Amino acid sequence: MGDHMLEIKDLRVSFHTYAGEVQALGGINFTVGQSEILAVVGESGCGKSVTAQSILRLHNKDTIDYKQGEILYKGRDLLALSEKEMQKIRGREISMIFQDPMTSLNPTLTIGKQITEAILKHSDKEGNSTNQREANKQAAGLIRSVGIANPDLRLKQYPHELSGGMRQRIMIAIAMSCSPEILIADEPTTALDVTVQAQILDLMKALQIKSGASIVIITHNMGVVANIAQKVIIMYGGVVVEKGTSGDIFYRPKHPYTWGLLKSIFRLNKDKNEPLIPIDGIPPDLLAPPKGCPFAPRCDYAMKVCREQMPREYSFGSAHTCDCWLSDENCPLEVKDWRNGDVKYKQ
Ligand SMILES: Nc1ncnc2c1ncn2[C@@H]1O[C@H](COP(=O)(O)OP(=O)(O)OP(=O)(O)O)[C@@H](O)[C@H]1O
Ligand SMILES: [Mg+2]
Repeated sequence: MGDHMLEIKDLRVSFHTYAGEVQALGGINFTVGQSEILAVVGESGCGKSVTAQSILRLHNKDTIDYKQGEILYKGRDLLALSEKEMQKIRGREISMIFQDPMTSLNPTLTIGKQITEAILKHSDKEGNSTNQREANKQAAGLIRSVGIANPDLRLKQYPHELSGGMRQRIMIAIAMSCSPEILIADEPTTALDVTVQAQILDLMKALQIKSGASIVIITHNMGVVANIAQKVIIMYGGVVVEKGTSGDIFYRPKHPYTWGLLKSIFRLNKDKNEPLIPIDGIPPDLLAPPKGCPFAPRCDYAMKVCREQMPREYSFGSAHTCDCWLSDENCPLEVKDWRNGDVKYKQ
């Protein structure tokens, strides 16, 4: 299909560190369609932020190594662009909300100053000459559009004078100030309590409908995305282990790791914002990734082949894929019901 906004093709990314080569992404593939909301889900350290930051090429050039693959934005490979060309893309065409809104907002500047700076910077690039007064007016409008009352007061305040939820709304306002084609939101809600998380996601969905932008939302909490994403990709140990529509992932999941994540939604104490440890064991060491499936050491169904050879990608229908040996037609095991671990051997 040629109408993808974003297409990640076999992306391999490593970091060169004193300890050795961290193989953060081991060849990932996914697409984002126009006006689509895609969720990237996986536990800490699986490569979600590296994926997001690679799209905008935000890493330090001295340590990052894009070993293989392409990041196609409207068909153009972002990895092949010069730094100057990338600067035109960042913020204006693809904008990003970072994991921690307190560190991404400047504590020494008022909210108004930070939003108007973003507006003025982008109007400059487009050759329009927005003046400070117009920028202030636009800033007040933006604050209102993200559901904050009393914009004139808020514009004069500093980040620490606002609640966490309001700061996140401000970040969204700044990210949307230049009408980007794609908004990448890296864990936009983890620092917030559950009610505010839901409000922020509702806001993002409403803005998406109004603006038509595509949204990539990154989270470790599967429950967060159920109501908002059309497509979901599940990452583990630097690879995509399963992807599909929300329906595929929630109603027809194929990968044991996805099963674990789904079970954890029900186990999670919803009143507490605890970090999620869905499945016993720890993720693989990316300095020395295992030779077989990265999930094998933690998988209840692991077979000999799983520890020795990486599974290929199996397709189920148009958009649903799963990288797991259980999906192979020659696999001797059949999982009858993943919810209670019911397994039988095929005849
Ligand atoms: N600048 C870097 N130098 C070396 N290793 C890095 C760097 N950035 C990320 N990594 C490594 O890459 C892997 C993936 O990290 P990433 O930040 O993408 O995880 P994540 O899925 O976003 O986790 P979290 O949910 O905790 O934010 C980790 O093993 C991490 O240690
Ligand atoms: Mg992260």
